[in-house]
Amino acid sequence: HWIVENNVDINESYPQIVDASQYLKDNEVVAFPTETVYGLGANATSDVAVDKIFQAKGRPSDNPLIVHISASEQLNHLVEEIPETAQKLIEHFWPGPLTIIFKKKDGVFSNKVTAGLDTVAIRIPDHPIALALIAAANLPIAAPSANRSGRPSPTTATHVIEDLQGRIVGVVDGGETGVGVESTVVDCTGDHPLILRPGGVTREQLEEIVGTIEVDPSLKEGKGAPKSPGMKYTHYAPNAPLYLVKANREKFQSLIKNKQKEGLKVGVLTTEENKGAFSEADVIIPCGKREDLLTVAHALYDTLRAFNSSDVDIIFSETFPEEGVGLAIMNRLQKAAGYRVIEE
Ligand code: TXA
Ligand code: MG
Repeated sequence: HWIVENNVDINESYPQIVDASQYLKDNEVVAFPTETVYGLGANATSDVAVDKIFQAKGRPSDNPLIVHISASEQLNHLVEEIPETAQKLIEHFWPGPLTIIFKKKDGVFSNKVTAGLDTVAIRIPDHPIALALIAAANLPIAAPSANRSGRPSPTTATHVIEDLQGRIVGVVDGGETGVGVESTVVDCTGDHPLILRPGGVTREQLEEIVGTIEVDPSLKEGKGAPKSPGMKYTHYAPNAPLYLVKANREKFQSLIKNKQKEGLKVGVLTTEENKGAFSEADVIIPCGKREDLLTVAHALYDTLRAFNSSDVDIIFSETFPEEGVGLAIMNRLQKAAGYRVIEE
């Protein structure tokens, strides 16, 4: 049942979308592209369907899922209230890489979607295939990233197949996703909105619309209990241990040489601008351009996966300014590195 059609032309993809929407109605799980990463979709109202997501991913059941809808009118049937801040964010950022936490209506979703919480995470993805698929299924679609739990999120159908072939009925192939990191998760149920997970919509963009907005402080250290349950798990990690290097070029180069003297093969996650500086490393993978962090976000997960096809024993990564989408990039890199940072 592998649906492989590498085309974002909605007319060309139409037969695959019809097939995939029928699977969703039949309570099967299907992977599909969004503008951020590939999602693993299932009928959010069915325990049987949602359970298949957790089975396929090997995901801990205390980690709730994002519900995807295709039009904001559907919200009224799903949530208790739409606070004013949420309404503003919806007007500016939906469809798009922003997930909003609401108080859920009882009796709508499978309890497995919300992991027993009284809130629900909802977004409208900005991708023609995702929107057509959700509309055709005519259901709210629960969809985490379509990777095995702990692995980097998938930004191509090939990544999905690597992780989930044999565990799900199929994937609608829409080529590479655009943003490359997941949606920003914002909690709008309290007195002030709070960023629970940095992502595709930047803190600066949110602040233009709703004023100052804090980031869940527990994300900084990777310690304490994050308000978004999923943020407590190690994630995105390549097979070899990853270290983030906040140091000048000389220090970075001597780190590489010292590990090589110990007999280790060293990989470096770098950028187009800096790749020439690390020629002594065994494997050098540039991840976008520093001068345009959107290109780094776009390439990040593919780069982390690419190190697994090499035989490196250790990976050193450049770090990035925590501004704009850099905040999401550094959050994902810190998680992938288990918060190991080498400073000057
Ligand atoms: O870009 C995305 O958001 C992708 C695409 C497929 O839409 N989806 C995605 O889903 O990243 P997932 O399951 O990998 O991440 C969902 C995040 C987790 O950190 C989870 O803990 C959090 O959202 N979350 C879900 N429901 C929540 C709730 N009610 N309260 C707080 N956090 C919640
Ligand atoms: Mg995920």
